Amino acid sequence: MRHAYVNGRYVPHAQAQVHIEDRGYQFADGVYEVVPLRDGRMIDEAPHLDRLGRSLAALRIDWPMSRACLGLVLRELVRRNAVADGSVYLQVTRGVAPRDHKFPRSPKPSLVVTTKWAGPATGLGAKGVGVVTVPDVRWRRCDIKSINLLANVLAKQAAAEQSAFEAWQVDEAGLVTEGASTNAWIVTADGALRTRALGSAILAGVTRETLLGFLAHEGLRVEERAFTVPEALLAPEAFLTSSSNFVLPVTRLDGKPIGDGRPGPITRRLRAWYLKHAGMAAES
Ligand code: PDD
Repeated sequence: MRHAYVNGRYVPHAQAQVHIEDRGYQFADGVYEVVPLRDGRMIDEAPHLDRLGRSLAALRIDWPMSRACLGLVLRELVRRNAVADGSVYLQVTRGVAPRDHKFPRSPKPSLVVTTKWAGPATGLGAKGVGVVTVPDVRWRRCDIKSINLLANVLAKQAAAEQSAFEAWQVDEAGLVTEGASTNAWIVTADGALRTRALGSAILAGVTRETLLGFLAHEGLRVEERAFTVPEALLAPEAFLTSSSNFVLPVTRLDGKPIGDGRPGPITRRLRAWYLKHAGMAAES
């Protein structure tokens, strides 16, 4: 039977519940992480828990338990659910309290953990995906992995309605911030890898960081600088990164082809490297 972890107990997933006055439910007053799983093992667990710590600190929410214990809970749920490939989701909210915007006096953080199996291989890595652009209407602390994802939900829905995979959000200066749930990259005409610099406009993606480490190791040129939509349309290659999608080629932007409309050689090399890093078989 599939289980979830809710505030101290492993419960059947179908019966897992939280209180109606949980501040996550009332105010989206909480944070989350998604850690990819491969062969039942978490990939890049440490940077995900580091980021969780930063998100919690930014909102002044206490860890629901020690970091070491949280690691054990994640592992135990993965074991109970016998998940090989997929992801583990964890959410920490400020806890249950009568509805009042300001912080409750002695909040007890809530912790929910669930697991998800990866679906069948989509073949998108070989084919590439389409992206559309939308205005970035989010708040100014997108570096916090907040469970308030309304703008991201609307962006992803806009993409779906245009048969695209992802929406790249564009700020008021016309610069791409990031996708609804992924970081955005282009390869420039002179072969540099370009992605927006960290700051409060984007989430510090763990996949982004892992990839930057590889690029430095390989001596590939990186420009941590935002790009415009016209610049992306002129780029020979573009791609996105996230824990669920790894490195995924972007072959269409707002209905127009990127490069020749097929995944380019640099993106294919980076995807192959990431799959290896995650212990996954190479794609043909
Ligand atoms: N996405 N930007 C946003 C707004 C995100 O929600 C995510 C994560 C990323 C990529 O971060 P990472 O590489 O750490 O997954 C960037 C969810 C969790 C996902 O698709 O997995």
